[in-house]
Amino acid sequence: MNLSTHLERPVFKAVASAAAELGAPAYVIGGYVRDLFLKRASKDIDFVTVGDGILLAGKVARAFRGHHPVSVFRNFGTAMFHLDEMQLEFVGARKESYHPDSRKPDVLPGTLEDDQRRRDFTINALAISLNPENYGEVIDPFNGLDDLEAGIIRTPLDPGITFSDDPLRMMRAIRFATQLKFAIHPETFKAIAENKARISIISGERISEELNKIIMTSKPSDGFRLLDECGLLTLIFPQFVALKGAETVDGKGHKDNFYHTLEVLDRIAPNTGNLWLRWAALLHDIGKPPTRRFVPELGWTFHGHDARGARMVPQIFRQLRLPLNEKMKYVQKLVALHLRPIGLTEEEVTDSAVRRLLFEAGDDIDDLMTLCEADITSKNREKVQRYLRNFAIVREKLREIEEKDRLRNWQPPVSGEMIMKAFNLSPGREVGLIKNAIREAILDGALENDREKAYAFMLEEGKRHGLIPAKDNA
Ligand code: CTP
Repeated sequence: MNLSTHLERPVFKAVASAAAELGAPAYVIGGYVRDLFLKRASKDIDFVTVGDGILLAGKVARAFRGHHPVSVFRNFGTAMFHLDEMQLEFVGARKESYHPDSRKPDVLPGTLEDDQRRRDFTINALAISLNPENYGEVIDPFNGLDDLEAGIIRTPLDPGITFSDDPLRMMRAIRFATQLKFAIHPETFKAIAENKARISIISGERISEELNKIIMTSKPSDGFRLLDECGLLTLIFPQFVALKGAETVDGKGHKDNFYHTLEVLDRIAPNTGNLWLRWAALLHDIGKPPTRRFVPELGWTFHGHDARGARMVPQIFRQLRLPLNEKMKYVQKLVALHLRPIGLTEEEVTDSAVRRLLFEAGDDIDDLMTLCEADITSKNREKVQRYLRNFAIVREKLREIEEKDRLRNWQPPVSGEMIMKAFNLSPGREVGLIKNAIREAILDGALENDREKAYAFMLEEGKRHGLIPAKDNA
């Protein structure tokens, strides 16, 4: 759809006539205009009026059939409502002046250009007139169209001012560059490096919202490289920067785990839209720096980095204000298990090893395999093909055993309550020991996954611990 047909849509006509009635010019502005030129679908439309945004919102909402409740944010002078799939937001054109210690500016009414000047990037400061004298005209005082064309992220003002006013924009610059595959203008990038310390006034939630958007792009490594280069990464996520480096001792080196991880993240991107699986890719080797040792006969080792990494996940999630719920547990689990499928690629792998992994990974087994496949980053193509073939065999083994034993969400056939009842026990150590013994015996294939057999095994096991069955007690 070209611009003029686009602007024939009822929503724009309605805003235009409400604005004309109020005698206050109105414009479409911001991300919607940018995305229109980039041919990206966008459902949020921002309108700015040289007048009262709240009044305009009410008038437009009433022009449409049906009830469209308007949410008013008087403090911000904004109002919004939903129309079908769209979210329409209205604001009066404003000037802003900022204080050094806050993202909350003093706001005064201003002209359209004042409003465009206070925005983050030239490509986000484009406006389209909805007024009769120049309906559909693009108003572009900061050459945003040229920057869109050239693929450049640049601030309308001196970048030092734009970033110091609102340091979240430093993250946004890198996020847009990654999403749109744009370059950040050198002066704008330099100002990010100079203002990086001001990120400290931004809440963790907002930072990780941008980080998540970077992670969800088709090539997240672009964003992480930029974050690293300007120095923001070490401020917001130092554990990740600690993966850097490839020291050599006695001619023995190891790969640089920072770049390896970024490659894994890029490799997993086409195979999953699951943010948390991508987080697992980002964190799979996070336990390497604290477990790194040089053993003269072996070279570098990272023994236990899987378990150590899993233990680091909650702290990282807390620090980045990511949810401390089952999403975190999922990431932890994948980090903890990420080396296990490799062990299953050996020829003489037992069914019991496969069974154990199925039991521990449960429904996340396929995601774990996707992670492991992405983890193969060798430069040697033949090696990569061999590893991938091995993993295909592991997937097949997993499928066979799952079909046979149904272990994905398996619960052992004898529960803790049954054990307590059988031996007249209260909850305690022995119950756990017996429960474990039953589970292990089944996973090892020494005991059939059958209720009666497991019950008999439990009685034996209890006796071994010196327990007396309840009915013998009576
Ligand atoms: N904006 C800004 N500074 C910010 C956030 C937003 O100047 N820190 C301005 C930009 O003009 C932006 C508009 O407000 O285009 C709307 O912001 P938002 O909805 O957050 O972003 P979009 O540009 O629409 O992009 P996205 O939806 O991808 O975040």
